[in-house]
Amino acid sequence: MNPLPDKVDTLFINCHLATMTGNSFSIIKDASLAVTGKSISWVGRQKDLPDNLETICQNLVDCKDGWILPGFVDCHTHLVWGGSRSNEFEMRLAGASYEEISEKGGGISSTVLSTRKASNEELFNTASKRVSALFSQGVTTLEIKSGYGLNLENELKLLEVIGQLDKAFPLHIEATFLGAHALPNEFTNNSDGYIDLVVNTMLPAVKKQGIATAVDVFCERIGFTLAQTKKVFERAKDLGFKIKIHAEQLSDSNGAALAAGFSALSCDHLEYLSLSGAKKMAQNNVAAVLLPGAFYFLKETQKPPIHIFRELKIPMAVSTDLNPGSSPVHSMTLILNMACMLFELTCEEALLGATINGATALGLESLKGSIEKGKDADLVVWDIDTPADLCYLAGLTPVEMVMIEGKILHEDFKD
Ligand code: NIG
Ligand code: FE
Repeated sequence: MNPLPDKVDTLFINCHLATMTGNSFSIIKDASLAVTGKSISWVGRQKDLPDNLETICQNLVDCKDGWILPGFVDCHTHLVWGGSRSNEFEMRLAGASYEEISEKGGGISSTVLSTRKASNEELFNTASKRVSALFSQGVTTLEIKSGYGLNLENELKLLEVIGQLDKAFPLHIEATFLGAHALPNEFTNNSDGYIDLVVNTMLPAVKKQGIATAVDVFCERIGFTLAQTKKVFERAKDLGFKIKIHAEQLSDSNGAALAAGFSALSCDHLEYLSLSGAKKMAQNNVAAVLLPGAFYFLKETQKPPIHIFRELKIPMAVSTDLNPGSSPVHSMTLILNMACMLFELTCEEALLGATINGATALGLESLKGSIEKGKDADLVVWDIDTPADLCYLAGLTPVEMVMIEGKILHEDFKD
């Protein structure tokens, strides 16, 4: 067990760990952690640290009693967009609902107009600021969806920008194709025609370019029907994409059960999920992605059925849903606080949701989301007294150091 590495690039000492292994929080107090290349090569109690590891290590990091957690995995964002929807925020403050604004041509459609007008470079520059905000708060793995282009040219443009962000930033970024996000104006009264375009033209083109790993659909009264969602998933599955869904956010459309039948990685939102939908998710090992930012921002009252997720042992991930309409929330620690306050998650559940369960929702659980020998060294050193501080100290982000795949990217240790 735990055979010794013969080379150590970085050795963290005087730290406490919340490893998130074995689907539990797993605390190791007074620990040490060794990194070799891009991976974790030794983890354990400092008193058990073999002497020679300190001698052979290239870089010794004294964490001064800080906590190391796996880097956050933000598994559901829409952070590449043009324009702003602050006018709709003001309309909602004056009483209009998200669905009413959407039905009058605002909502996602208004972001689509601005996104189509924006150049690749403009989108890259605005999205970069959002990625930087998440990174500075401990996010090391990120998923970004397309879905504000809604025609071939603009959906490909968005996925290309996501690819450029992946190259430019040290974070691991997964791209998801969300062509079936909303009905573009040119297909008004012809939503089946638009789905045909997604299925016959966009999906094969995205596959050919290899610029997305998963396919998502907004299955909802103001999105697409169950039958249309099924059509998209059938083609996506044939082409080898992983499946995700925006389901049961504003009403129960039975989308989660449908996606579970396609062995989806995750079903996301789920405020209106039925017991039978949850059972289908459990049978097919589908993760539930909770998005308290959208619940908060839309002033929803119906909460996702957390007690059922607990009972059925469905992994709960927690994510920002960063987007201009329903969740312009650029902070993972604020989301942790919302998950506890609004959905009554325990701090441990919220932190598992932002790490290993987020990784599970992306199919990356064998590499990301926990501190284990052999896994990627994606680590954040926090200046906190206890991990619960990350949920409790709303708005404070006491990051001391970020490491991604063994590389130290941000260091802020004070003497
Ligand atoms: O996850 N529900 C659909 N999609 C986004 C909202 C996008 C928008 O309003 O621009 C969500 O909440
Ligand atoms: Fe979303």
